[in-house]
Amino acid sequence: MEKWWQSSVVYQIYPRSFQDSNGDGVGDIAGITSRLEYLEKLGIDVIWLSPVYKSPNDDNGYDISDYEAILPEFGTMADMDELIREAKQRGIQIIMDLVVNHTSDEHPWFKEAKKSKTNPYRDYYIWRDSVNGGPPNDLQSIFSGSAWEFDKETNQYYFHLFSKRQPDLNWENPAVQEEVWKLMNFWLAKGIGGFRMDVIDLIGKIPDKGITGNGPKLHEYLKKMHKETFGKYDVLTVGETWGATPEIAKLYSNPDREELSMVFQFEHISLDELPGKSKWDLQPLDFIQLKAILSKWQTALGDEGWNSLFWNNHDLPRIISRWGNDSPKYRVKSGKMLATILHLMKGTPYIYQGEEIGMVNTPVSSIEELDDIESLNMYRERLAAGYDKADILASINKKGRDNARRPMQWSNHEHGGFTTGTPWLELSPRYSEINVENELADSESLFYHYQRLIQLRKNNPLVVWGTYQELIPNDTQLFVYERSYENETWLIVANFYEEEADFSHESHKVKEIILSNYSDSSVDLANLHLRAYETVVYRLEK
Ligand code: NOJ
Repeated sequence: MEKWWQSSVVYQIYPRSFQDSNGDGVGDIAGITSRLEYLEKLGIDVIWLSPVYKSPNDDNGYDISDYEAILPEFGTMADMDELIREAKQRGIQIIMDLVVNHTSDEHPWFKEAKKSKTNPYRDYYIWRDSVNGGPPNDLQSIFSGSAWEFDKETNQYYFHLFSKRQPDLNWENPAVQEEVWKLMNFWLAKGIGGFRMDVIDLIGKIPDKGITGNGPKLHEYLKKMHKETFGKYDVLTVGETWGATPEIAKLYSNPDREELSMVFQFEHISLDELPGKSKWDLQPLDFIQLKAILSKWQTALGDEGWNSLFWNNHDLPRIISRWGNDSPKYRVKSGKMLATILHLMKGTPYIYQGEEIGMVNTPVSSIEELDDIESLNMYRERLAAGYDKADILASINKKGRDNARRPMQWSNHEHGGFTTGTPWLELSPRYSEINVENELADSESLFYHYQRLIQLRKNNPLVVWGTYQELIPNDTQLFVYERSYENETWLIVANFYEEEADFSHESHKVKEIILSNYSDSSVDLANLHLRAYETVVYRLEK
């Protein structure tokens, strides 16, 4: 059965950095509502809202202290209700970020749990005795250091896969599950369009056996969640699953299994990291591998799952700086190339705020300029381990999360029109060149290219349902694939690099050019000569 989210495009908002409405330098919910017209113009169907709940902001909202309250900096529950209502009037659904692998250490459950070993909330979290005077085992936190934090008062360790202020919930406790169903139903009753599920692959962990991702009870929990909460609604659910292979993705998203709509897989995103090392240890992108992985995912799920398509989110560097070219000369051309490749694939595309105007990374020269806890922890850890300061900063400039978290660039006015106050994190110095106002004034802008890609999806079942066939997989420069549906075939040809390249597809003739990032692309498929980042979508003769 076809689902509405299979032909939808999602736009992710990181509320702190989207639009400030009251001059305190922090983006807020009223700011988002004021920009719905812009999002409607872009053509998206769904907003994924990064957390807006009450939080001490140790990890910018991914540490929640009350799931049913709004962070005062972001506004009130009335603002949130208004956003849901106003968005719906424009045909836009809001999906909430569900962060239930852990809470904040300021959540009342954890405050209670800490009080004593016999507190009724103790078992909401994962507590263990020390082993040989140290932590129970050597599991590491994703944000550096041991995953176990010692609590002096009760003389036990608690488990945290992220910061020590993000204690992991104990999903084996049925009371925890009930609490989660309750908070999910609270939000569903408000008429939201679904959930993005933060590190959901970790909830089935068994820390004593060293198992964190894909634990044995994970799918049992998700089936239960489906049954107790969103199964009664027609909503989109997408899980963040770092370790997913296509086989694993089918377990989550095969509709017969009644778990999630789809998952985010990260195989392509991890390609510029040294295997077995961390995200900070870089290697050059292997383009052939990138094509192989994206193509594998295009065909592997079949009818037993659904893909999500993304280059960016609030944890990843800006894609144009990462795998395109962020020089003024090629920023837009390479951005259009990357967007076209992704948006004409099969799956639900996700756009991260600012991607549609080609925002780029913002390198820093000192950690004073940073906010992100992951980067700051890594910096301290590596400095203590003797790494070279310049090397650490180089990794942060390439991969650090603040690259994605700089405020949205709306105009060339002070602070890019993001705030009238002092922004919580400085804007990119390139905001007078790259901003929404400029984009909307230029019919050849990246914004309008994204708008066209979204419309192509809306108006052509081929984009949503067509088969996918990669061509010339071993070509070191060109990404070429065909999509076919009923009697129609489209050919997508993209030069991933600045150097020019040739391509020949002699047996086919072009009916028309559907989209290109050059105004004079050739239709001679026997002798195609692709310029820097040139990308063309052809409709082929039958
Ligand atoms: C994944 C989120 O995307 C990231 O921003 C966060 O820090 C961790 N999960 C912990 O919640």
